[in-house]
Amino acid sequence: MTDVLDSSPNPDTRDNDEDAGATWWRQAAVYQIYPRSFADANGDGIGDLAGITSRVPYLKRLGINAVWLSPFYPSALADGGYDVDDYRDVDPKIGTLDDFDEMITALHEANIKLIADIVPNHSSDRHVWFQQALAAGKGSPERARYIFRDGLGANGEIPPSDWVSMFGGPAWTRARDGQWYLHLFATEQPDFNWKNPEVHEDFLTTLRFWSDRGVDGFRVDVAHGCAKELPDVLPTQAELDATPTTDGQHPLWDRDEVHDIYAEWRQVLDEYDPPRIAVAEAWVASAERRARYASPKELGQAFNFDLLEADFDAGAFLEIVSTNLAEAKIAGSSTTWVFSNHDVVRHATRYGLPPRGGSDVKQGAEWLLSGGTTPELDVATGLRRARAASLFMLGLPGSAYLYQGEELGLGEVADIPADQHQDPAYFRNPGVDPGRDGCRVPLPWTVDGPSFGFGPARAHLPQPEWFSALSVEAEDDDPASTLTLYRTALTLRNQLQTTEALDWLGSDARSVLHFRRPNGWEVVTNFGTEPIAMPAGEVLVSSGPLSEGTLPGETTVWLKA
Ligand code: GLC
Ligand code: CA
Repeated sequence: MTDVLDSSPNPDTRDNDEDAGATWWRQAAVYQIYPRSFADANGDGIGDLAGITSRVPYLKRLGINAVWLSPFYPSALADGGYDVDDYRDVDPKIGTLDDFDEMITALHEANIKLIADIVPNHSSDRHVWFQQALAAGKGSPERARYIFRDGLGANGEIPPSDWVSMFGGPAWTRARDGQWYLHLFATEQPDFNWKNPEVHEDFLTTLRFWSDRGVDGFRVDVAHGCAKELPDVLPTQAELDATPTTDGQHPLWDRDEVHDIYAEWRQVLDEYDPPRIAVAEAWVASAERRARYASPKELGQAFNFDLLEADFDAGAFLEIVSTNLAEAKIAGSSTTWVFSNHDVVRHATRYGLPPRGGSDVKQGAEWLLSGGTTPELDVATGLRRARAASLFMLGLPGSAYLYQGEELGLGEVADIPADQHQDPAYFRNPGVDPGRDGCRVPLPWTVDGPSFGFGPARAHLPQPEWFSALSVEAEDDDPASTLTLYRTALTLRNQLQTTEALDWLGSDARSVLHFRRPNGWEVVTNFGTEPIAMPAGEVLVSSGPLSEGTLPGETTVWLKA
């Protein structure tokens, strides 16, 4: 293992160098911070911006190139901050605009970029526009910023359609005067009407507001949902479900006109030097549909959730990597990779559960609903595979998106008491959707203390005892820890980063993937359980212990010829 390397980027590749200017994002390692669960500076149990600032040295040592910050705006937290009251301010519960400026200055001094989450599909019901819409009444220009409809039935008491929200329960809620408003997510998240030019203008103002404050880019929430075409007679949920999402004509999702919005955003992003970047969260039918969001004329990049939905399987990984590299090339973008985020069961846990076969974003849901008992979780296997998979990903061309805590090998928390859950998905779909609180439990920084160093007091979600052994303090000086693995790999990645390409090297075993980057950097993953002969080359880092001359099962190694 090489752990004595300097973490500054290789000047030959300049990909992560400040001077690389406009292309820094193409192969960045981006670390997602869910601010309310990262670090709590003032001891109120909720992570805050000052907490992030205090941990910049940790982030710098980790070797990441950018932070993606989940919503930090004023919010009642009906959906963990994805219910935004005011797009141009900081939630007073977690800081001020001055704290934001301090945070971004500290990140930039550490040569770390900042990507802000932006939520254009819906605001919160506390947003001034929505409050005005409720007050102004039917047919008003204020109401035309959202999607209001009369109800059905003699007195309009039946919702305009039987649509079910993404979190379960009805997608329409009745206002006091009898009209209904659409919310594809929680009741507190009214959908904007993107046919209204005022909505367009306001988001351009928001993009400028944060870009002027030094934000380097944006992560665009539910990017595929903004454009909607609602006919006078609405289809039923069953009809919606039967409508293809492949041709840009579905009433709600991935409509072709959505791209007009992002073409407009690109104009604003390009007013800056370097241009601001953007990455779309777009759940769409194909790599081809996704590539449209990633076009250089639009957002520039889009999340690719294929690896996140796959089992730990050589064949599946090979197919996904090959397809997405080809698609990105056509789109003129770079590929993105991700295993974990704030919406899914952590991959160290997913990989310790029986494989589901095929792609499935709900992996681990059943286990979570059982309180973490069924099927049986194999913690050691899950962690071993997660480390192998992450080291595989960090060697791939393109951007790697990491989620806070995965560098510690954290698993999902399954035993959150019913009365301490926060996620609307948990409450709106009781017994069916386990919710996403289990991956949002505050990080453990120390082996003990009231919240394992998250802050001076207790944390807003309960942390299990086993967090102690996975804390930063416990892993800091351990050469075998997951934290040491991520630090070593990220540091090496900055030095080795090269042209966005790879060649697959033949391998006899169907459970082994082996590729070489143009500069001779090689990555080999043994997805099987039996050791194989170690390919030639100097070992730079491995995801697990090696024994002489072999690459053990469920292990990745980086080699240099
Ligand atoms: C995105 C976010 C998720 C949120 C939803 C509604 O999918 O990642 O956390 O609940 O949008 O804003
Ligand atoms: Ca706090």
